[in-house]
Amino acid sequence: MNISIFGLGYVGAVSMACLARDGHKIYGVDIDPIKLALIRKGNSPIIEEGMPELMKAVVTDGSLEVTDDINLAIDNTDISFICVGTPSQLNGSQDQSAVLRLAEQLGAALSTKNSLHTIVFRSTLVPGTVEETLIPLLEKHSGKKANIDFDVCFQPEFLRESTSIKDYDNPPFTIVGAATERAHQTMNTLFGHLPAEYHRADIRTGETVKYFCNIFHALKITFANEVGRLCNAMEIDAHQVMALLCEDRQLNISAAYLKPGFAFGGSCLPKDLRAMQYVAKMNDIEIPMLANVLKSNEEHLHLAVKRVLATGKRKVGMIGLSFKSGTDDLRESPLVNLAELLIGKGMDLSIYDPEVNLSFLIGANKRYIEESIPHVGELMNDDVNAVIENNDVIVVGIGDKNLLEAVVTHAKPGQIVIDLVNMSNKDQLNCIYQGLCW
Ligand SMILES: NC(=O)c1ccc[n+]([C@@H]2O[C@H](COP(=O)([O-])OP(=O)(O)OC[C@H]3O[C@@H](n4cnc5c(N)ncnc54)[C@H](O)[C@@H]3O)[C@@H](O)[C@H]2O)c1
Repeated sequence: MNISIFGLGYVGAVSMACLARDGHKIYGVDIDPIKLALIRKGNSPIIEEGMPELMKAVVTDGSLEVTDDINLAIDNTDISFICVGTPSQLNGSQDQSAVLRLAEQLGAALSTKNSLHTIVFRSTLVPGTVEETLIPLLEKHSGKKANIDFDVCFQPEFLRESTSIKDYDNPPFTIVGAATERAHQTMNTLFGHLPAEYHRADIRTGETVKYFCNIFHALKITFANEVGRLCNAMEIDAHQVMALLCEDRQLNISAAYLKPGFAFGGSCLPKDLRAMQYVAKMNDIEIPMLANVLKSNEEHLHLAVKRVLATGKRKVGMIGLSFKSGTDDLRESPLVNLAELLIGKGMDLSIYDPEVNLSFLIGANKRYIEESIPHVGELMNDDVNAVIENNDVIVVGIGDKNLLEAVVTHAKPGQIVIDLVNMSNKDQLNCIYQGLCW
């Protein structure tokens, strides 16, 4: 293919060199004349392992040319990758000046082009930027319609500086946000050969995944460093602790606990977080991330309260009270906290939980309910259908299959289901549905 790459920094330069190596004809475009002069001489504009040799080879064999002429680059290519910088402004917002200016220029260049062109944004962009800002700019300056006269994609870039050629050839996955099948086919032609799964997404999802991948990496590093600070204070080998922690591929290094849902609780997580916070305090160590985990969890609980209050209804049925399906353990259950907060707000509450009802009957949890949370216990109802049918709002707090089916069967139009568990059968509901944060 004939490909133009705009912005020859770390992302653009590596893509340009690798695509030229793979047999494509590349036009590299940058506004920096020093970079262009360097590349024309066969030098790499960035310090990266493998780049000097690769750049020399692709410039010498003529598969790579550079220019500052946007029209020439657009006219001679079928597809353009936009890799200009999107740094932070002083207030933390994204500085999009380079990509905005470029979109105007690309639009103007597209106005005189007769054949189909595909524009692929690879710069990291705040979700919504492509659809709300860049496509309108391209359309305005080209006088053409996106997805008809030209295609637009967003393809997040996952390479890491220092290993970027290896990462280009072995990405964790390829994600392409696009609105047309035609655009996906073009992108699949270019990247389908890579040893990585090709995921189709909408453009906003593509923009968003990139952010949360990076934020997850930052979170992991900070977690390991806070663990390090705590271990150091307790004279424990932090590297051994983290190495062992990473050995658990079932719960730790896995997709477990990574689905948006309700607040956590139970008899272990909150108390263990508090205990380590206390260790930090005793050792004069700051662990701001770990110290704020319970605070964030609390926020999530309050979000559920706000969702219920926002319905303007008073009669609320809660499905679930224990901290997760399949247990009667009510200690530090966030659903108990939710029930208490709703009672405090004057809601007329009734609660069904199969395990809690059973344990109350056989006496297992009877004392705890009667002594610690009698005000919640007296709202228990052992008829799930009645709890669903006789209330205006139904809060679904456990994901048990039979209970979810009961909600679908008994909830009527006009009732509101507030879903804390991402109900697998929510599409079958015949009433108003609200996910907690989805
Ligand atoms: N560096 C990384 O490892 C990495 C990884 C993934 C994603 N990203 C994202 O990719 C984007 C590019 O990052 P980078 O590190 O390569 O940036 P960079 O600052 O190294 O390079 C950007 C290049 O764009 C050029 N440029 C600016 N305006 C231009 C215009 N109008 N036309 C042509 N060229 C123009 C600049 O001269 C510069 O050479 C950013 O959005 C970044 O967040 C970077």
